[in-house]
Amino acid sequence: MKRIAVIPGDGIGPEVIAQAVEVLHRVEQAHGVRLELVHFDWGADRFLREGVALPDGALQMLERDFDAILAGAFGDPRVPSNEHAEQILLGMRRGLDLYINLRPVRLLHERLTPLKGRTEAEIDFVVFRENTEGAYCGAGGFLKRGTPEEIATQEEINTRRGVERIVAAAFEHARRHGRQRVTMADKSNVQRFGGDLWQRVFREVAARYEEIEAEHQYVDAMAMFMVLDPGRYDVVVTNNLFGDILTDLGAGIVGGLGVAASGNIHPGRVSLFEPVHGSAPPLAGKGVANPIGAILTAAMMLEYLGFDRAAREIERAVREQIAAGETTRDLGGSLSTAEAGRAICRRIVGR
Ligand code: NAD
Ligand code: IPM
Ligand code: MN
Repeated sequence: MKRIAVIPGDGIGPEVIAQAVEVLHRVEQAHGVRLELVHFDWGADRFLREGVALPDGALQMLERDFDAILAGAFGDPRVPSNEHAEQILLGMRRGLDLYINLRPVRLLHERLTPLKGRTEAEIDFVVFRENTEGAYCGAGGFLKRGTPEEIATQEEINTRRGVERIVAAAFEHARRHGRQRVTMADKSNVQRFGGDLWQRVFREVAARYEEIEAEHQYVDAMAMFMVLDPGRYDVVVTNNLFGDILTDLGAGIVGGLGVAASGNIHPGRVSLFEPVHGSAPPLAGKGVANPIGAILTAAMMLEYLGFDRAAREIERAVREQIAAGETTRDLGGSLSTAEAGRAICRRIVGR
């Protein structure tokens, strides 16, 4: 029995998470997976009502009582500062020390890529995004705010320990999954200090993995090559901010944010799984959001918990559903969020 904390969050979060939960119930029946799901109402509504984003003791409770966390999205136009989302999402990533943001970029059907002539075999890589430091450290400040002389600083932090553990995780993943190449993206031609640390650590770690090709690219060039030649990537490792941007680009080449899954992982500890997309306010409440990103995220979570076969079966069902055109409108279909979720559930077969 595994215990899962479910945090649907804001906007389309609850709509897509409801479908991911249906899929989890289906694999409970079909695959004998045993889960206990406990829902939490953390998000904008509660923040606006009670002023509480991440309740006191929440992180300790998650670590003590749960095996994994499944979250939707956080962000609401009524909270323009985005402070609740920062407290909840970045609070869990940092507070639980979830240093790996694992974001697969995998084409599920040829029809979904906007790139001419690209196939499923060509677009299949994983991004290891550093998830606890970099530009997300919140360091910086204002001087003379609101005056013509205003100064705003925004710093980034790169620790040797932080860089080393994400680079090592990328190489270790490559070794375990038979990947040939790890590509590290930075902007070390401009960001001379942080970039220098990443370069040195990357070379040191790469030396421990002789069978894997270690390649470096500047992140701007990588953005271009992801579009022109996505087949060259196997495993990509990069910092927090570049990883955020590159994984939306990665989603774009495989059908959009509606299909992109992600895990925030600290191996061996309670880890957080959430789709790459946000709360998409313009889509919220309309029943049009694509649940595939959330459903594949639930599959990633199952794999993390050791239910590999159930995870593979969900992925197979999703591919079949896309091939049959039983999708929401972002993928060219006409189904609602719930109908698309049900179409996937129906295709999940037992062991
Ligand atoms: P977004 O990912 O919410 O949406 C961008 C666009 O992508 C949408 O307008 C829609 O066209 C498409 N899209 C996203 N998810 C989709 C889905 N499931 N099905 C179909 N189409 C989908 O990004 P945004 O508009 O830049 O941000 C909206 C809010 O979400 C902001 O408050 C932002 O901070 C937040 N956000 C949260 C997370 C998170 O919680 N992990 C991630 C990204 C953005
Ligand atoms: C993501 C999101 C978050 C990020 C935001 C909402 C803080 O864009 O998960 O990709 O920048 O990491
Ligand atoms: Mn993002």
